[in-house]
Amino acid sequence: MKSIYLTGFMGAGKTSIGHALGEKLGLSVFDTDSLIEDKAEKNISKFFEVYGEAEFRRLEKEVLQGLPVTDSIIMTGGGIIKTAENISWMKEKGLMIFLYCDMEIVLQRLAHDITRPLIQQKSKEEITALFSERLPLYQKAHITLDTSSLSVGEAALKLVDEIKSWHSGQH
Ligand code: S3P
Repeated sequence: MKSIYLTGFMGAGKTSIGHALGEKLGLSVFDTDSLIEDKAEKNISKFFEVYGEAEFRRLEKEVLQGLPVTDSIIMTGGGIIKTAENISWMKEKGLMIFLYCDMEIVLQRLAHDITRPLIQQKSKEEITALFSERLPLYQKAHITLDTSSLSVGEAALKLVDEIKSWHSGQH
């Protein structure tokens, strides 16, 4: 089975849904942010502080391309779609999924977050504008799932169905 790439804005639930999906499908799970942190031996905030966003995006692309293109669930950072090549990679090599979540919910989840450098000192309006700017890129995904009213388990179950029907349509 081709790898499954989970994309979506910060706070959309990619990590928790990814783990639940990995369990349901019995697939290995990878997280590009965690791999970057391991490689750099720095957390994301420190990485941005020391090397800046451009270097983060360079490493993010390298990590993405180093991951297996079969039998894996790959959780990506919210800005992975900023690199056009990453969208092509995910769409050509696997199944790209966009986990949509209402901004109201996302903003609540991000309210006290100190781990995501791109939203520190940003107003709700600025964060919403960033999401709107990125939305057309996320929408390039093969499958979109609105997770706003779903629990993690429900979202994973729905994805299992969507993934199965996508794969059956591939043959
Ligand atoms: C980013 C999202 C983060 C992380 C980094 C940049 C972004 O991942 O990759 O802080 O540009 O949206 P999450 O979406 O897992 O928070």
